[in-house]
Amino acid sequence: MRKSFPDHFLWGASTSAYQVEGAAYEDGKKASQQDIINKDSYQTFGFATAEVASDQYHHFKEDIALMKEMGFTAYRFSIAWSRVFPDGVGEVNEKGIQYYRDLIDELIRNGIEPIVTLYHYDCPWALVEKYGGWLDRRIVKDFEYYARYIINEFKDKVKIWTTINEQSIIVQYWIQKCYIPEELLDGKHDQLRYQINHYMNLAQAIAVKLVHELVPGGIAGAPLGYSCIYPLTSRPEDVMAMQNAQALRNDYYTDIYFKGEYNKAAMIYLEEHGLAPKIEEGDMELIRENLSDFLAINYYASECAKWCPDDGTQQIRWSGVNRSGKKGDIDGFETHPGFYQMCKNPELDTTDWDWAIDPIGMEYLLRDLYNRYNKPLMITENGLGAYDVLTKDGQVHDDYRIDYLRGHIAACKRAIDKGVELLAYCPWSAVDLLSTSNGVKKRYGFIYIDRTDDDPKDCARIRKDSFYWYQKVISTNGEDLT
Ligand code: BG6
Repeated sequence: MRKSFPDHFLWGASTSAYQVEGAAYEDGKKASQQDIINKDSYQTFGFATAEVASDQYHHFKEDIALMKEMGFTAYRFSIAWSRVFPDGVGEVNEKGIQYYRDLIDELIRNGIEPIVTLYHYDCPWALVEKYGGWLDRRIVKDFEYYARYIINEFKDKVKIWTTINEQSIIVQYWIQKCYIPEELLDGKHDQLRYQINHYMNLAQAIAVKLVHELVPGGIAGAPLGYSCIYPLTSRPEDVMAMQNAQALRNDYYTDIYFKGEYNKAAMIYLEEHGLAPKIEEGDMELIRENLSDFLAINYYASECAKWCPDDGTQQIRWSGVNRSGKKGDIDGFETHPGFYQMCKNPELDTTDWDWAIDPIGMEYLLRDLYNRYNKPLMITENGLGAYDVLTKDGQVHDDYRIDYLRGHIAACKRAIDKGVELLAYCPWSAVDLLSTSNGVKKRYGFIYIDRTDDDPKDCARIRKDSFYWYQKVISTNGEDLT
Protein backbone atom coordinates (compact mmCIF):
# COMPACT_ATOMS: atom_id res chain seq x y z
CA MET A 1 0.00 0.00 0.00
CA ARG A 2 1.11 3.52 -0.81
CA LYS A 3 2.25 5.55 2.17
CA SER A 4 2.87 8.89 0.53
CA PHE A 5 1.82 11.10 -2.37
CA PRO A 6 2.45 9.37 -5.71
CA ASP A 7 5.49 10.43 -7.73
CA HIS A 8 3.58 12.29 -10.42
CA PHE A 9 1.09 13.87 -8.08
CA LEU A 10 0.08 17.31 -9.37
CA TRP A 11 0.66 20.23 -7.00
CA GLY A 12 -0.68 23.64 -7.88
CA ALA A 13 -3.56 26.00 -7.24
CA SER A 14 -6.72 27.29 -8.89
CA THR A 15 -8.46 30.48 -9.99
CA SER A 16 -11.34 31.42 -12.27
CA ALA A 17 -11.38 33.89 -15.13
CA TYR A 18 -13.65 36.67 -13.87
CA GLN A 19 -12.16 36.45 -10.38
CA VAL A 20 -8.57 37.11 -11.50
CA GLU A 21 -8.30 38.36 -15.04
CA GLY A 22 -9.79 41.85 -15.00
CA ALA A 23 -9.62 43.46 -18.47
CA ALA A 24 -13.37 42.93 -18.48
CA TYR A 25 -13.94 45.07 -21.57
CA GLU A 26 -10.50 44.95 -23.16
CA ASP A 27 -9.36 43.57 -26.52
CA GLY A 28 -12.88 42.83 -27.68
CA LYS A 29 -14.17 41.04 -24.57
CA LYS A 30 -17.78 41.83 -23.79
CA ALA A 31 -19.59 41.51 -20.48
CA SER A 32 -20.35 38.23 -18.83
CA GLN A 33 -23.16 37.94 -16.30
CA GLN A 34 -20.48 38.25 -13.59
CA ASP A 35 -19.52 41.73 -14.80
CA ILE A 36 -23.12 42.75 -14.26
CA ILE A 37 -23.65 40.86 -10.97
CA ASN A 38 -20.44 42.27 -9.49
CA LYS A 39 -21.22 45.81 -10.59
CA ASP A 40 -24.41 45.44 -8.64
CA SER A 41 -22.72 44.04 -5.54
CA TYR A 42 -20.28 46.96 -5.61
CA GLN A 43 -23.27 49.29 -5.38
CA THR A 44 -25.05 47.21 -2.74
CA PHE A 45 -22.18 45.98 -0.56
CA GLY A 46 -19.12 47.94 -1.68
CA PHE A 47 -17.35 44.80 -2.97
CA ALA A 48 -14.91 45.23 -5.86
CA THR A 49 -16.20 44.77 -9.40
CA ALA A 50 -14.70 42.28 -11.85
CA GLU A 51 -13.31 45.06 -14.03
CA VAL A 52 -9.76 44.80 -12.69
CA ALA A 53 -9.99 41.85 -10.27
CA SER A 54 -6.34 40.73 -9.81
CA ASP A 55 -5.40 42.03 -13.26
CA GLN A 56 -3.97 38.66 -14.26
CA TYR A 57 -4.68 39.54 -17.88
CA HIS A 58 -1.74 41.94 -17.68
CA HIS A 59 0.32 40.03 -15.10
CA PHE A 60 0.05 36.44 -16.27
CA LYS A 61 3.76 36.02 -17.03
CA GLU A 62 4.67 37.35 -13.60
CA ASP A 63 2.09 35.08 -11.98
CA ILE A 64 3.35 32.02 -13.81
CA ALA A 65 6.93 32.87 -12.83
CA LEU A 66 5.80 32.96 -9.19
CA MET A 67 3.93 29.67 -9.61
CA LYS A 68 7.07 28.14 -11.01
CA GLU A 69 9.05 29.50 -8.07
CA MET A 70 6.60 27.77 -5.72
CA GLY A 71 7.17 24.56 -7.68
CA PHE A 72 3.70 24.20 -9.23
CA THR A 73 3.21 21.30 -11.60
CA ALA A 74 -0.41 22.27 -12.35
CA TYR A 75 -2.55 25.38 -12.60
CA ARG A 76 -6.31 25.21 -12.82
CA PHE A 77 -7.96 28.24 -14.39
CA SER A 78 -11.08 28.90 -16.42
CA ILE A 79 -11.68 30.37 -19.83
CA ALA A 80 -13.98 33.36 -20.08
CA TRP A 81 -16.54 32.44 -22.72
CA SER A 82 -17.25 36.11 -23.54
CA ARG A 83 -13.56 36.83 -24.08
CA VAL A 84 -13.45 34.22 -26.84
CA PHE A 85 -16.99 34.70 -28.15
CA PRO A 86 -18.08 38.18 -27.01
CA ASP A 87 -21.64 37.48 -28.15
CA GLY A 88 -21.66 33.90 -26.89
CA VAL A 89 -21.66 32.44 -30.41
CA GLY A 90 -20.61 33.58 -33.87
CA GLU A 91 -17.29 35.24 -34.62
CA VAL A 92 -14.31 34.30 -32.50
CA ASN A 93 -12.47 37.21 -30.88
CA GLU A 94 -8.92 36.67 -32.12
CA LYS A 95 -7.30 38.72 -29.35
CA GLY A 96 -9.34 36.89 -26.74
CA ILE A 97 -8.32 33.41 -27.82
CA GLN A 98 -4.73 34.61 -28.25
CA TYR A 99 -4.66 35.46 -24.53
CA TYR A 100 -5.40 31.83 -23.66
CA ARG A 101 -2.90 30.54 -26.24
CA ASP A 102 -0.24 32.70 -24.60
CA LEU A 103 -1.28 31.68 -21.08
CA ILE A 104 -1.23 27.97 -21.88
CA ASP A 105 2.06 28.17 -23.78
CA GLU A 106 3.65 30.07 -20.90
CA LEU A 107 2.46 27.41 -18.43
CA ILE A 108 3.80 24.58 -20.55
CA ARG A 109 7.13 26.39 -21.05
CA ASN A 110 7.40 26.51 -17.26
CA GLY A 111 6.57 22.84 -16.76
CA ILE A 112 3.10 23.54 -15.37
CA GLU A 113 0.22 21.39 -16.55
CA PRO A 114 -2.80 23.49 -17.55
CA ILE A 115 -6.08 22.21 -16.07
CA VAL A 116 -8.81 24.07 -17.90
CA THR A 117 -12.31 24.76 -16.62
CA LEU A 118 -14.71 25.51 -19.45
CA TYR A 119 -17.29 27.39 -17.44
CA HIS A 120 -17.02 29.16 -14.09
CA TYR A 121 -20.23 31.17 -13.53
CA ASP A 122 -19.57 33.65 -16.34
CA CYS A 123 -22.24 33.25 -19.01
CA PRO A 124 -21.88 35.84 -21.79
CA TRP A 125 -24.24 38.70 -21.06
CA ALA A 126 -25.30 38.70 -24.72
CA LEU A 127 -26.91 35.28 -24.14
CA VAL A 128 -28.61 36.51 -20.98
CA GLU A 129 -30.11 39.36 -22.99
CA LYS A 130 -31.02 37.08 -25.88
CA TYR A 131 -32.90 34.38 -23.96
CA GLY A 132 -32.06 34.56 -20.24
CA GLY A 133 -28.80 32.56 -20.32
CA TRP A 134 -29.06 29.29 -18.42
CA LEU A 135 -32.79 29.81 -17.90
CA ASP A 136 -33.31 28.70 -21.48
CA ARG A 137 -32.54 25.35 -23.04
CA ARG A 138 -31.03 27.06 -26.11
CA ILE A 139 -27.91 27.64 -24.05
CA VAL A 140 -26.96 23.97 -24.33
CA LYS A 141 -26.41 24.32 -28.08
CA ASP A 142 -24.49 27.56 -27.66
CA PHE A 143 -22.33 26.04 -24.95
CA GLU A 144 -21.57 23.15 -27.29
CA TYR A 145 -20.46 25.61 -29.97
CA TYR A 146 -18.13 27.35 -27.52
CA ALA A 147 -16.82 24.14 -25.91
CA ARG A 148 -16.14 22.48 -29.25
CA TYR A 149 -14.07 25.45 -30.36
CA ILE A 150 -12.02 25.61 -27.14
CA ILE A 151 -11.42 21.88 -26.80
CA ASN A 152 -10.42 21.61 -30.44
CA GLU A 153 -8.11 24.61 -30.15
CA PHE A 154 -6.20 23.20 -27.18
CA LYS A 155 -6.56 19.46 -27.77
CA ASP A 156 -2.82 18.93 -28.13
CA LYS A 157 -1.84 21.01 -25.12
CA VAL A 158 -4.51 20.41 -22.49
CA LYS A 159 -5.26 16.88 -21.31
CA ILE A 160 -7.21 17.50 -18.12
CA TRP A 161 -10.54 19.26 -18.64
CA THR A 162 -12.97 20.30 -15.98
CA THR A 163 -16.40 21.13 -17.29
CA ILE A 164 -18.93 23.26 -15.39
CA ASN A 165 -17.96 24.67 -12.04
CA GLU A 166 -20.03 23.77 -8.98
CA GLN A 167 -23.51 22.97 -10.21
CA SER A 168 -24.48 22.21 -6.62
CA ILE A 169 -23.50 25.69 -5.49
CA ILE A 170 -25.33 27.28 -8.42
CA VAL A 171 -28.54 25.59 -7.24
CA GLN A 172 -28.04 26.84 -3.68
CA TYR A 173 -26.76 30.36 -4.35
CA TRP A 174 -28.22 31.04 -7.76
CA ILE A 175 -28.32 34.83 -7.62
CA GLN A 176 -24.57 35.11 -7.03
CA LYS A 177 -23.73 32.57 -9.70
CA CYS A 178 -26.37 33.24 -12.37
CA TYR A 179 -28.19 36.39 -13.38
CA ILE A 180 -31.79 35.84 -12.26
CA PRO A 181 -34.30 38.62 -13.02
CA GLU A 182 -36.02 40.20 -10.01
CA GLU A 183 -39.46 38.84 -10.91
CA LEU A 184 -38.21 35.26 -10.58
CA LEU A 185 -36.89 35.69 -7.07
CA ASP A 186 -40.07 35.33 -5.07
CA GLY A 187 -39.77 31.62 -4.21
CA LYS A 188 -42.44 30.56 -6.71
CA HIS A 189 -39.79 29.93 -9.31
CA ASP A 190 -37.43 27.69 -7.38
CA GLN A 191 -38.00 24.83 -9.84
CA LEU A 192 -35.80 26.87 -12.19
CA ARG A 193 -32.80 26.15 -9.96
CA TYR A 194 -33.10 22.49 -10.84
CA GLN A 195 -34.03 23.25 -14.45
CA ILE A 196 -30.82 25.29 -14.89
CA ASN A 197 -28.94 22.40 -13.33
CA HIS A 198 -30.52 19.97 -15.79
CA TYR A 199 -29.38 22.11 -18.73
CA MET A 200 -25.94 22.18 -17.16
CA ASN A 201 -25.99 18.37 -16.89
CA LEU A 202 -26.61 18.23 -20.64
CA ALA A 203 -23.86 20.76 -21.32
CA GLN A 204 -21.45 18.93 -19.02
CA ALA A 205 -22.19 15.58 -20.75
CA ILE A 206 -21.53 17.24 -24.11
CA ALA A 207 -18.22 18.61 -22.85
CA VAL A 208 -17.15 15.14 -21.68
CA LYS A 209 -18.15 13.73 -25.07
CA LEU A 210 -16.14 16.41 -26.90
CA VAL A 211 -13.04 15.77 -24.80
CA HIS A 212 -13.30 12.05 -25.50
CA GLU A 213 -13.79 12.67 -29.22
CA LEU A 214 -11.24 15.40 -29.78
CA VAL A 215 -8.44 15.14 -27.23
CA PRO A 216 -5.97 12.28 -27.60
CA GLY A 217 -5.58 10.84 -24.09
CA GLY A 218 -7.84 13.55 -22.65
CA ILE A 219 -9.88 13.14 -19.49
CA ALA A 220 -12.87 15.16 -18.30
CA GLY A 221 -14.83 15.64 -15.11
CA ALA A 222 -16.92 18.18 -13.28
CA PRO A 223 -15.50 20.46 -10.57
CA LEU A 224 -18.14 20.05 -7.91
CA GLY A 225 -18.70 22.10 -4.74
CA TYR A 226 -18.85 19.22 -2.29
CA SER A 227 -19.15 19.10 1.49
CA CYS A 228 -19.48 16.01 3.61
CA ILE A 229 -22.51 16.19 5.87
CA TYR A 230 -22.68 15.08 9.49
CA PRO A 231 -25.80 14.51 11.59
CA LEU A 232 -26.16 17.06 14.40
CA THR A 233 -26.65 14.23 16.92
CA SER A 234 -26.80 10.45 16.90
CA ARG A 235 -30.61 10.59 17.17
CA PRO A 236 -31.92 8.40 14.33
CA GLU A 237 -34.03 11.32 13.03
CA ASP A 238 -30.90 13.46 12.61
CA VAL A 239 -29.06 10.60 10.94
CA MET A 240 -31.92 10.23 8.44
CA ALA A 241 -31.87 14.00 7.88
CA MET A 242 -28.16 13.68 7.11
CA GLN A 243 -28.91 10.95 4.57
CA ASN A 244 -31.60 13.11 2.93
CA ALA A 245 -29.24 16.09 2.75
CA GLN A 246 -26.54 13.87 1.28
CA ALA A 247 -29.00 12.76 -1.41
CA LEU A 248 -30.18 16.22 -2.43
CA ARG A 249 -26.98 18.24 -1.96
CA ASN A 250 -24.36 15.73 -3.12
CA ASP A 251 -25.54 12.45 -4.68
CA TYR A 252 -27.98 14.33 -6.92
CA TYR A 253 -24.87 15.56 -8.79
CA THR A 254 -22.38 12.73 -8.46
CA ASP A 255 -24.94 10.08 -9.48
CA ILE A 256 -25.42 12.00 -12.72
CA TYR A 257 -21.68 12.19 -13.40
CA PHE A 258 -20.90 8.55 -12.61
CA LYS A 259 -24.15 6.56 -12.93
CA GLY A 260 -25.92 8.72 -15.51
CA GLU A 261 -29.09 8.96 -13.42
CA TYR A 262 -30.74 11.24 -10.92
CA ASN A 263 -30.58 10.10 -7.32
CA LYS A 264 -33.97 8.54 -6.57
CA ALA A 265 -34.65 9.86 -3.06
CA ALA A 266 -33.67 13.38 -4.12
CA MET A 267 -35.78 13.23 -7.28
CA ILE A 268 -38.85 11.94 -5.41
CA TYR A 269 -38.50 14.83 -2.95
CA LEU A 270 -38.20 17.34 -5.82
CA GLU A 271 -41.20 15.86 -7.64
CA GLU A 272 -43.33 15.97 -4.49
CA HIS A 273 -42.52 19.67 -4.08
CA GLY A 274 -42.87 20.81 -7.68
CA LEU A 275 -39.11 21.38 -7.99
CA ALA A 276 -38.13 18.59 -10.38
CA PRO A 277 -36.60 19.57 -13.73
CA LYS A 278 -38.43 18.94 -16.99
CA ILE A 279 -36.51 16.23 -18.82
CA GLU A 280 -36.91 15.77 -22.57
CA GLU A 281 -36.62 12.61 -24.60
CA GLY A 282 -33.00 11.70 -25.22
CA ASP A 283 -31.63 13.78 -22.32
CA MET A 284 -30.91 10.85 -20.03
CA GLU A 285 -29.32 8.85 -22.86
CA LEU A 286 -26.94 11.73 -23.55
CA ILE A 287 -26.02 11.87 -19.87
CA ARG A 288 -25.68 8.09 -19.50
CA GLU A 289 -23.47 7.78 -22.56
CA ASN A 290 -21.01 10.42 -21.39
CA LEU A 291 -19.95 9.67 -17.85
CA SER A 292 -17.07 11.51 -16.20
CA ASP A 293 -13.55 10.13 -15.90
CA PHE A 294 -12.88 11.70 -12.50
CA LEU A 295 -14.41 14.03 -9.96
CA ALA A 296 -12.78 17.39 -9.26
CA ILE A 297 -13.67 18.38 -5.72
CA ASN A 298 -14.00 21.90 -4.36
CA TYR A 299 -14.02 21.46 -0.59
CA TYR A 300 -13.85 24.24 1.97
CA ALA A 301 -16.07 23.24 4.86
CA SER A 302 -18.14 20.35 6.15
CA GLU A 303 -21.84 20.76 6.83
CA CYS A 304 -24.25 19.56 9.46
CA ALA A 305 -27.90 18.50 9.20
CA LYS A 306 -30.75 17.90 11.63
CA TRP A 307 -34.29 16.68 11.40
CA CYS A 308 -36.95 19.24 10.50
CA PRO A 309 -40.59 18.18 10.90
CA ASP A 310 -43.11 19.10 8.24
CA ASP A 311 -45.60 20.61 10.69
CA GLY A 312 -46.37 23.84 8.86
CA THR A 313 -44.07 25.99 11.00
CA GLN A 314 -41.23 26.15 8.45
CA GLN A 315 -40.98 26.67 4.71
CA ILE A 316 -38.42 25.64 2.11
CA ARG A 317 -35.45 28.00 2.18
CA TRP A 318 -31.99 28.00 0.62
CA SER A 319 -28.51 28.39 2.05
CA GLY A 320 -27.70 31.58 3.90
CA VAL A 321 -24.71 33.86 3.26
CA ASN A 322 -22.53 35.87 5.56
CA ARG A 323 -21.87 39.15 3.76
CA SER A 324 -20.26 41.04 6.64
CA GLY A 325 -17.31 38.80 7.48
CA LYS A 326 -18.27 38.85 11.17
CA LYS A 327 -18.59 35.41 12.70
CA GLY A 328 -22.20 34.46 13.34
CA ASP A 329 -23.72 36.85 10.76
CA ILE A 330 -24.89 34.05 8.45
CA ASP A 331 -28.48 34.80 7.48
CA GLY A 332 -30.03 31.35 7.86
CA PHE A 333 -29.69 27.71 6.85
CA GLU A 334 -31.14 25.64 4.06
CA THR A 335 -34.40 24.05 5.15
CA HIS A 336 -36.58 21.38 3.58
CA PRO A 337 -39.37 20.52 6.05
CA GLY A 338 -39.94 16.77 6.29
CA PHE A 339 -36.50 16.11 4.74
CA TYR A 340 -33.72 18.02 6.55
CA GLN A 341 -32.47 21.34 7.83
CA MET A 342 -28.83 22.40 7.73
CA CYS A 343 -27.38 23.84 10.93
CA LYS A 344 -24.19 24.97 12.62
CA ASN A 345 -21.89 22.19 13.82
CA PRO A 346 -21.21 22.94 17.50
CA GLU A 347 -18.01 20.86 17.35
CA LEU A 348 -16.19 23.00 14.80
CA ASP A 349 -14.63 26.43 14.65
CA THR A 350 -15.45 28.54 11.61
CA THR A 351 -13.88 31.19 9.43
CA ASP A 352 -15.01 34.80 9.83
CA TRP A 353 -17.60 34.01 7.13
CA ASP A 354 -19.04 31.06 9.10
CA TRP A 355 -17.49 28.25 7.04
CA ALA A 356 -16.72 25.28 9.34
CA ILE A 357 -13.03 24.39 9.38
CA ASP A 358 -12.75 20.63 9.12
CA PRO A 359 -9.73 18.82 7.65
CA ILE A 360 -11.08 15.42 8.73
CA GLY A 361 -14.08 16.16 6.52
CA MET A 362 -11.68 16.09 3.57
CA GLU A 363 -10.44 12.64 4.44
CA TYR A 364 -14.00 11.46 5.03
CA LEU A 365 -15.34 12.65 1.69
CA LEU A 366 -12.36 11.38 -0.32
CA ARG A 367 -12.75 7.92 1.13
CA ASP A 368 -16.52 7.95 0.83
CA LEU A 369 -16.54 9.14 -2.81
CA TYR A 370 -13.82 6.74 -3.84
CA ASN A 371 -15.57 3.80 -2.13
CA ARG A 372 -18.86 4.57 -3.81
CA TYR A 373 -17.77 5.45 -7.35
CA ASN A 374 -14.28 4.01 -7.63
CA LYS A 375 -13.11 6.91 -9.84
CA PRO A 376 -9.97 9.05 -9.51
CA LEU A 377 -10.38 12.28 -7.57
CA MET A 378 -8.70 15.68 -7.64
CA ILE A 379 -8.87 18.58 -5.27
CA THR A 380 -9.50 21.61 -7.46
CA GLU A 381 -10.40 23.98 -4.63
CA ASN A 382 -9.73 24.08 -0.90
CA GLY A 383 -8.68 27.10 1.10
CA LEU A 384 -9.17 29.61 3.83
CA GLY A 385 -10.83 32.95 3.17
CA ALA A 386 -9.28 35.37 5.65
CA TYR A 387 -8.41 39.01 6.28
CA ASP A 388 -4.69 39.31 5.57
CA VAL A 389 -2.53 42.17 6.79
CA LEU A 390 0.29 43.60 4.72
CA THR A 391 2.96 44.74 7.15
CA LYS A 392 4.87 48.01 6.68
CA ASP A 393 7.87 46.03 5.46
CA GLY A 394 5.79 44.27 2.80
CA GLN A 395 5.09 40.87 4.39
CA VAL A 396 1.98 38.81 5.02
CA HIS A 397 2.16 36.48 8.02
CA ASP A 398 -0.72 34.11 7.21
CA ASP A 399 0.07 31.30 9.65
CA TYR A 400 -3.73 30.63 9.98
CA ARG A 401 -3.79 29.75 6.25
CA ILE A 402 -0.75 27.49 6.65
CA ASP A 403 -2.52 25.70 9.53
CA TYR A 404 -5.62 25.22 7.44
CA LEU A 405 -3.76 23.90 4.40
CA ARG A 406 -1.47 21.71 6.48
CA GLY A 407 -4.48 19.97 8.03
CA HIS A 408 -6.12 19.40 4.68
CA ILE A 409 -3.00 18.13 2.92
CA ALA A 410 -2.42 15.73 5.81
CA ALA A 411 -6.01 14.56 5.35
CA CYS A 412 -5.38 13.95 1.64
CA LYS A 413 -2.34 11.92 2.58
CA ARG A 414 -4.29 9.80 5.04
CA ALA A 415 -6.92 9.15 2.35
CA ILE A 416 -4.19 8.10 -0.10
CA ASP A 417 -2.80 5.80 2.58
CA LYS A 418 -6.22 4.14 2.71
CA GLY A 419 -6.17 3.47 -1.04
CA VAL A 420 -7.86 6.56 -2.51
CA GLU A 421 -6.66 7.48 -6.00
CA LEU A 422 -6.01 11.22 -5.72
CA LEU A 423 -4.41 12.89 -8.74
CA ALA A 424 -3.94 16.53 -7.77
CA TYR A 425 -4.13 19.13 -5.04
CA CYS A 426 -4.97 22.59 -6.36
CA PRO A 427 -6.17 24.79 -3.51
CA TRP A 428 -7.92 28.13 -3.82
CA SER A 429 -6.19 30.23 -4.81
CA ALA A 430 -2.92 30.88 -6.59
CA VAL A 431 -3.21 34.64 -6.16
CA ASP A 432 -5.71 36.68 -4.12
CA LEU A 433 -8.84 37.28 -6.12
CA LEU A 434 -12.37 38.60 -6.16
CA SER A 435 -14.52 36.43 -3.90
CA THR A 436 -17.89 35.35 -5.29
CA SER A 437 -19.76 36.82 -2.35
CA ASN A 438 -17.39 38.98 -0.30
CA GLY A 439 -15.22 41.23 -2.45
CA VAL A 440 -11.42 41.24 -2.33
CA LYS A 441 -10.94 41.74 1.41
CA LYS A 442 -11.64 38.03 1.89
CA ARG A 443 -8.34 36.62 0.64
CA TYR A 444 -7.32 33.10 -0.31
CA GLY A 445 -4.04 33.36 -2.22
CA PHE A 446 -0.43 32.35 -1.69
CA ILE A 447 0.35 35.62 -3.42
CA TYR A 448 -1.03 38.85 -2.01
CA ILE A 449 -2.51 41.27 -4.53
CA ASP A 450 -2.07 44.83 -3.38
CA ARG A 451 -5.51 46.29 -3.90
CA THR A 452 -8.67 47.04 -1.93
CA ASP A 453 -12.35 46.80 -2.81
CA ASP A 454 -12.42 50.51 -3.62
CA ASP A 455 -9.01 50.96 -5.13
CA PRO A 456 -7.35 48.57 -7.57
CA LYS A 457 -4.01 50.37 -7.01
CA ASP A 458 -1.30 48.64 -9.07
CA CYS A 459 -2.18 45.05 -8.08
CA ALA A 460 1.45 44.43 -7.08
CA ARG A 461 2.27 40.80 -6.29
CA ILE A 462 3.69 39.99 -2.84
CA ARG A 463 4.71 36.55 -1.58
CA LYS A 464 2.91 35.58 1.66
CA ASP A 465 4.43 33.30 4.31
CA SER A 466 2.19 30.54 2.92
CA PHE A 467 4.01 30.96 -0.42
CA TYR A 468 7.31 29.79 1.11
CA TRP A 469 5.61 27.09 3.15
CA TYR A 470 3.82 25.64 0.09
CA GLN A 471 7.09 25.79 -1.84
CA LYS A 472 8.61 23.48 0.78
CA VAL A 473 5.58 21.16 0.76
CA ILE A 474 5.82 20.77 -3.00
CA SER A 475 9.59 20.30 -3.05
CA THR A 476 9.21 17.39 -0.59
CA ASN A 477 6.17 15.98 -2.46
CA GLY A 478 4.00 16.57 0.59
CA GLU A 479 6.36 14.93 3.10
CA ASP A 480 7.34 18.07 5.02
CA LEU A 481 4.25 19.91 6.25
CA THR A 482 5.91 21.66 9.18
C1 BG6 B 1 -16.11 28.15 -4.82
C2 BG6 B 1 -16.02 28.79 -6.17
O1 BG6 B 1 -17.45 27.97 -4.54
O2 BG6 B 1 -15.70 28.85 -3.71
C3 BG6 B 1 -15.05 29.94 -6.26
O3 BG6 B 1 -15.76 27.86 -7.18
C4 BG6 B 1 -15.13 30.77 -5.01
O4 BG6 B 1 -15.34 30.66 -7.42
C5 BG6 B 1 -14.76 29.90 -3.82
O5 BG6 B 1 -14.34 31.91 -5.04
C6 BG6 B 1 -14.76 30.62 -2.49
O6 BG6 B 1 -16.00 31.24 -2.27
P1 BG6 B 1 -16.10 32.78 -2.01
O7 BG6 B 1 -17.55 33.07 -1.93
O8 BG6 B 1 -15.39 33.03 -0.73
O9 BG6 B 1 -15.45 33.44 -3.16
